[in-house]
Amino acid sequence: MPDRILIEGGTPLHGEVAVSGAKNAALPLMAASLLVPGEYVLENVPDLRDVTTMCGLLGHLGVSCDGRGTVTLDSTKASSWDAPYDLVKTMRASILTLGPLLARFGRAQVSQPGGCAIGTRPINRHLAGLEALGANIRLEHGYVIAEAERLVGAEVVFEAPTVTGTENLIMAAVFAEGRTALVNAAREPEIVDLADALNAMGARIAGAGTDVIHVEGVTSLTPVRYRVMPDRIEAGTYLIAAGVTRGNVTVKGCVPSHLRAVIERLEKAGLTVEEGPDWLRAACPDGIRAVDVRTDPYPGFPTDMQAQFMVLMALSDGLSTLTETIFDGRFMHVPELCRMGADITLSDRRAIIRGVAGLSAAPVMATDLRASASLVLAGLAAEEGITEISRVYHLDRGYDSLDRKLSLLGGKIWRASG
Ligand code: EPZ
Repeated sequence: MPDRILIEGGTPLHGEVAVSGAKNAALPLMAASLLVPGEYVLENVPDLRDVTTMCGLLGHLGVSCDGRGTVTLDSTKASSWDAPYDLVKTMRASILTLGPLLARFGRAQVSQPGGCAIGTRPINRHLAGLEALGANIRLEHGYVIAEAERLVGAEVVFEAPTVTGTENLIMAAVFAEGRTALVNAAREPEIVDLADALNAMGARIAGAGTDVIHVEGVTSLTPVRYRVMPDRIEAGTYLIAAGVTRGNVTVKGCVPSHLRAVIERLEKAGLTVEEGPDWLRAACPDGIRAVDVRTDPYPGFPTDMQAQFMVLMALSDGLSTLTETIFDGRFMHVPELCRMGADITLSDRRAIIRGVAGLSAAPVMATDLRASASLVLAGLAAEEGITEISRVYHLDRGYDSLDRKLSLLGGKIWRASG
């Protein structure tokens, strides 16, 4: 697979683009197939590397995964509860197997996910929650070993919201005896998608999307066919692509209500954003204004849009600050953007961005998923020359055909090998 992307910038993007299914909804939904034996069919699954990785991990656990786009998972023969390091280390979301394995087998042995490019990412809140449900948790040789004769419903209070922690606890609680309350739960739409799918399977979950989620334990579930929600981060990325190239892009098949905080900041930054039931159209007729942003848990401005928004601010008419409150290391894209002429300085969790008239093409290196998307956006905005992005496997982890879709919008973007 070619591992470089080349971009000749300066072309305003125009036209329509359809978003794929949400990576961060598909991954927990795939893990949920561990809960009961049977055949599940997931529609609108994005074709990207993290989904392939999850298929490989589930395969190791005895779940067969077939198909692309529409994926059939058969967990009839699932018998292992050991998620090994060599599979888990490539994708932190592997931790999403912990809750369902514990719920199904009463035990789980999942490698502790390593750190990653965007910061240390502990799982203490996941483990504290599972202990509250009666699990016995040990950490040995880099593995989380969880055991529970049976899980008993309880009140779990998260010290702060965690997306996959909330998802793990929902899946662990579906068979727990009695009621579970998840307090200070994360509110992301991907959690609602998981809860909707589990309820379609016969679970009894209320309050997903709010900060208190109630789960009434049941004794069994029935596998389902379920359609994954659209990817709100992919949609937001195209809106910003319209802004940085001064184009006019219609994003189809998205959920505008999932992007309220992003739309509000984009409009403050001078973009026009029109909205329909399942589409958004962005343009930037009069230039980009400097606005301050801070990332927050949903429904606040998503950390997964921080790197992309930074490119917009790098081209704005003044000084702006971008404060990253979620992760302690999510500024790896800054040095690369500066090499393209951006004027950005960092102090702790804050980026101070002074808008410049234009960016210039340069060879740059992707470091993590959303950082690589920001480098693509910067390349599209750069006036002269060819931007060359290496290590694009980071991009392929989280986007389904981003370069192909951008070229359909008129972007001069292609892949090269070696
Ligand atoms: C999910 O990661 C997403 N991944 C991330 O998307 C997203 O950036 C993140 O939520 C925040 O919205 C998936 O859904 C697969 P958290 P997650 O637990 O669940 C700290 C992408 O680009 N924390 O909500 O791992 C943690 O270190 C990816 O698609 C603890 O301290 O994030 C972080 O600072 C990147 N202890 C903050 O909380 C814990 O037990 C939020 O983390 C758990 C988390």
